[in-house]
Amino acid sequence: MNIIFLGPPGAGKGTQAQRICAALNIPQISTGDMLRRAIADQTPTGLKAKAYMDAGGLVPDDVIIDIVKERLQAPDCAGGYILDGFPRTVPQAEALEGIATIDKVVELDVADEKLIQRISGRRVCLKCGATYHVSLLNGATTCANCGEPLIQREDDKAETVLNRLKSYHSKTAPLVDFYQARGKLVKIDGAGDMDAIFAAILKELQA
Ligand code: AP5
Repeated sequence: MNIIFLGPPGAGKGTQAQRICAALNIPQISTGDMLRRAIADQTPTGLKAKAYMDAGGLVPDDVIIDIVKERLQAPDCAGGYILDGFPRTVPQAEALEGIATIDKVVELDVADEKLIQRISGRRVCLKCGATYHVSLLNGATTCANCGEPLIQREDDKAETVLNRLKSYHSKTAPLVDFYQARGKLVKIDGAGDMDAIFAAILKELQA
């Protein structure tokens, strides 16, 4: 199955994509993680993307479309994948239609106030992409998966988060109608317990 996870920053796309990918044995393709790795490695793409990401805006469509096109050609995508954070604009969704057939789009729905609370407490592992919340870390400062130090993302500062939310509502939210019109959208309440959300998504995907 080729699946898209859609939702505002902090909705739980990364958290749930990791779990669903493990359950279905398919790769998680997170454009945010790919860009953060490119920045850390100081590649030309990373250098181009950094200013947009630091400001809470979107990286230009042509840059991100090229990255995803290349990634989808990798052999591990042959049996399906989850796109986490792509597409994010209507032109990206239109470009995707030319390179892949999407089976389902899972929209995680969470109110803005809760998103801000979640993002401000988020800690991530840059090495393996695992995501945590400080309230559940019990003081741990390293990744439970790979032992790397956990960090707070540059774009998780309060003022940047507001820009990311604005950008979601103006540029990405129209994709809800885009995929609804194609009969592919599944809406999941992303505000509850992580295990319950995981079960709800899995049920929809297996329906
Ligand atoms: P990206 O990394 O994709 O960030 P995002 O979409 O803003 O999403 P987040 O990673 O912030 O949130 P999430 O939904 O994955 O939530 P998470 O699971 O971590 O993109 C970053 C930037 O890259 C963009 O701003 C843009 O500049 C650029 N970019 C990326 N893709 C692009 C594209 N296609 N086009 C252009 N630019 C692009 O959860 C958040 C927190 O909440 C965690 O701490 C987690 O532990 C906690 N949590 C999760 N679920 C629950 C729950 N049910 N209950 C309580 N806590 C929970």
